[in-house]
Amino acid sequence: MRDLRDIDTVGVVGAGTMGAGIAQVAATAGYDVLMRDVEAEFVEDAFDRIEDSLDRLVEKGEVDADDRGAILDRIVGTTDLADFSQTDFVVEAAVENMDVKRDVFAELDEEVPDGVPLATNTSTLSITTIAAATEREDRVVGLHFMNPVPVMKGVEVVVGEKTSDEAVDLAHDFAEDLGKETWESDDKPGFVTNRILMPWINEGIRAFDEGVASKEDIDKGMKLGTNVPMGPLELADHIGLDICLDASETLHEELGDRYKPAYLLKRKVDAGDLGKKTGKGFYEYDEDS
Ligand code: CAA
Repeated sequence: MRDLRDIDTVGVVGAGTMGAGIAQVAATAGYDVLMRDVEAEFVEDAFDRIEDSLDRLVEKGEVDADDRGAILDRIVGTTDLADFSQTDFVVEAAVENMDVKRDVFAELDEEVPDGVPLATNTSTLSITTIAAATEREDRVVGLHFMNPVPVMKGVEVVVGEKTSDEAVDLAHDFAEDLGKETWESDDKPGFVTNRILMPWINEGIRAFDEGVASKEDIDKGMKLGTNVPMGPLELADHIGLDICLDASETLHEELGDRYKPAYLLKRKVDAGDLGKKTGKGFYEYDEDS
């Protein structure tokens, strides 16, 4: 059975917001990290985001200034999945699309040594279906990080139909070694977090669209009224409206009409207003925000 001592090099597939965050926290915990995306440009952008994030953490005294360089040096970028033959644990954070994830997992299964566990950061898709693209279904597990990864304390461990107890234990141990706390969910659509969060966000959007209150008052009401750090509209902008729509559509498909995405969410995504990352969602953002 593998344990944490067998992990020196962590492979991260996908260098978007989540992949970069996962690479950063793994390198901060002392692991060597191989971070892969399909284009070198995406990998470079990820390094820029990691540097910004480390600067903020250094400023807050959460990362020692002397460690900043060593953390960055531990992360190596690549566009070649064949390099993953050197990894001891893999976290996939590619786009939230089942066909893409199954292709990535089939390829990982070829490249990554047999005993190595493959985790997916999927937020709503079935771990069991992703695992079935491999010959190592017992070693495929969900490891669902929250955005922003360097700040959020929790990670959801998701147990597929064939995930072994060993893989589940290792997923908990690995996340804890990154300084996170974990909880466990069965492989049901949206797991614990998005099953509950997405209807909350969609209801906030509907309340705005139906004129219940201004967007500011909806967010303020939920923040002050229920003591959460962000209201539903600002949280949707923070997560990305396209991500919220994808997650909501999966939930709708799997669980029925009570998960129907809000009309205004679809309209905003069609218009390309995806939230903070495009500078406009329900709110407008400048470079500094
Ligand atoms: N790296 C490092 N530090 C960061 C950071 C990053 N990427 N992003 C924010 N921070 C730090 C800031 O430097 C700041 O530090 P200080 O408090 O010491 O100044 C702190 O976090 C707070 O940031 P801000 O002052 O900029 O803004 P804020 O107070 O509004 O906090 C937030 C931002 C941490 C994102 C907070 O609003 C929050 O926790 N929001 C809820 C986020 C959430 O719910 N995430 C989960 C979404 S669901 C998900 O991810 C799963 C899914 O599948 C969709």
